[in-house]
Amino acid sequence: MKNFLSITDCSTEELKELLTESAELKKLYKSGKRDLSLAGKTLAMLFEKPSLRTRISFQVAMGDLGGNAIYVKPEDIGGIGKREPVKDIARTLSRYVNGIMARTFEHNTVTDLAEFATVPVINALTDQLHPCQAMADVLTISEHFGKIDGIKIAFIGDGNNVARSLGFAAAKLNMKLVIAAPAGYELDGESVEIANQILKETVTQTNDPKQAVSDADIIYTDTWVSMGQEEEKQKRIKDFAGFQVNTELLEAAPANAKIMHCLPAYRGLEITDEAAESKNSIVFDQAENRLHFQRALLKKLMSS
Ligand code: CP
Ligand code: NVA
Repeated sequence: MKNFLSITDCSTEELKELLTESAELKKLYKSGKRDLSLAGKTLAMLFEKPSLRTRISFQVAMGDLGGNAIYVKPEDIGGIGKREPVKDIARTLSRYVNGIMARTFEHNTVTDLAEFATVPVINALTDQLHPCQAMADVLTISEHFGKIDGIKIAFIGDGNNVARSLGFAAAKLNMKLVIAAPAGYELDGESVEIANQILKETVTQTNDPKQAVSDADIIYTDTWVSMGQEEEKQKRIKDFAGFQVNTELLEAAPANAKIMHCLPAYRGLEITDEAAESKNSIVFDQAENRLHFQRALLKKLMSS
């Protein structure tokens, strides 16, 4: 495993090992001990989009492991692929740092970085995928349910990067994902097929949120307007009416179903404040687990 660009690039065994290592490092750090596997190592972090969780958790994870992280905004380097080609950025950075993580609009930008870098490249969200989020979510699920196998997630809202990575994680780790999206916002057929070829009947879709949550262990949602889609905001708010995670929807779900959201949450749109704050909400456990999963990921990719 050189890079971490998509969950589909990893074997089930590799993903399970990462989850085990995440849990072990979490325990170690909570007990006040340290694993300094990345002493003297540096991660370059390229961001074309805003971030709270990803930026801070990667930076803290590098520091925890004894290393350093450098935050790079596109304007610092004249834009990714604008002042110079992505392949030149990849090769130059490889001479200075031991790993590159990138949050980009186009997915091709991270695959190009990975093709030309001689150091590991981590996908920290693209328009297509958010694999670190999905794996931190699986870690959270395993903690709350004591298992991953057979867990049923109802994803309410946009068939987006987060939904796609969750679908791939479900396929590799034997969960079920039902996506309830308005017509025209479903997850694309090719992604559904990729997931279902890995594991039969992993991802299904419906346009009925109540049906999706009726037997769900988890109700998951994400913004209706992903970064880069701001111009579509008003249309999307109209189109997603009826797809809000709120008390009415929760009444159609099992009483103990957990509520998940990758955050940031837009209260009053995809989720009500009441649902986000309910006793079944585990959204901050998800946020915390970004740190624990990414520590394990950085150690695996960068310690050799
Ligand atoms: N969930 C997530 O990736 O959050 P940020 O955009 O704040 O990094
Ligand atoms: N789907 C959202 C996730 C944010 C973490 C976006 O891409 O903006």
